[in-house]
Amino acid sequence: MKKALARDLAAHIRRIDEELHLSPHELPGGAAARPLKKPAARRPAAAASAPASAPVPASSFGELEKEVKSCRRCALGSHRLNAVFGVGSPKARVMFVGEGPGFQEDHQGEPFVGRSGQLLDKILDTVLGLKRSEVYIANIVKCHPMVNPDNPESHGNDRPPSPEEIAVCRPYLERQIALIKPGCIVTLGSVATKVLLGVEEGISKIRGKWYVYPRNLFGGDADIKLLPTYHPAALLRNPKLKLDTWEDMKMLKSFLESEAGGGAGPMAG
Ligand code: URA
Repeated sequence: MKKALARDLAAHIRRIDEELHLSPHELPGGAAARPLKKPAARRPAAAASAPASAPVPASSFGELEKEVKSCRRCALGSHRLNAVFGVGSPKARVMFVGEGPGFQEDHQGEPFVGRSGQLLDKILDTVLGLKRSEVYIANIVKCHPMVNPDNPESHGNDRPPSPEEIAVCRPYLERQIALIKPGCIVTLGSVATKVLLGVEEGISKIRGKWYVYPRNLFGGDADIKLLPTYHPAALLRNPKLKLDTWEDMKMLKSFLESEAGGGAGPMAG
């Protein structure tokens, strides 16, 4: 019986390995057999001691989207082609948060539609059995931070958002979180993780554990569990990180299943 289970598990892992293009040497047998650690919710000191932000003004999702689409609070608003509000279900149980739109996102007005986004879709589908319409995907900043803002048509014109751009845009994300009230948030990469958790450690140190996103930071009724993982772009650069990401997504899957009372169906709705 145990042998059959182990065989099933190994076959399942091989399938995911193929889907995610992991080469066999990246998935040693030991890793496959290793049980996932029980999520230990811990609250990083910096986030726990962060001051309470102003109460989040009530607004419908549609009103908030309109506000973002006409926003000119920082210079990014004058150069973008499209503000990228977010995509997915406003009733999603899990919210993925990236850094900011790139070239493709600026052109299409939707987050994670370039190569990183295609990989994110594949991870959602393969590991979680979810479509992007069943989760919610947003970014820390809603407009494309460009090295040369006068040329939105040039490729490779991306840069990380500045602290000032993050500070003026962050309330939009907080309001999205307050309206969606997800069961958990997954931060994609270092920038989103540092912004939401107020920590300094790099993503490789901090990923794969549960943290707490305190209710006072977004004006909600309850704290939200937060799981940092690698940004899909990092996986494209370094495919060896896919194994860790896969483990993080399994942790997420267990959480969503426990929240849904053990059901394996879509988590949204
Ligand atoms: N990278 C991000 O962080 N967000 C996007 O929407 C696209 C790429």
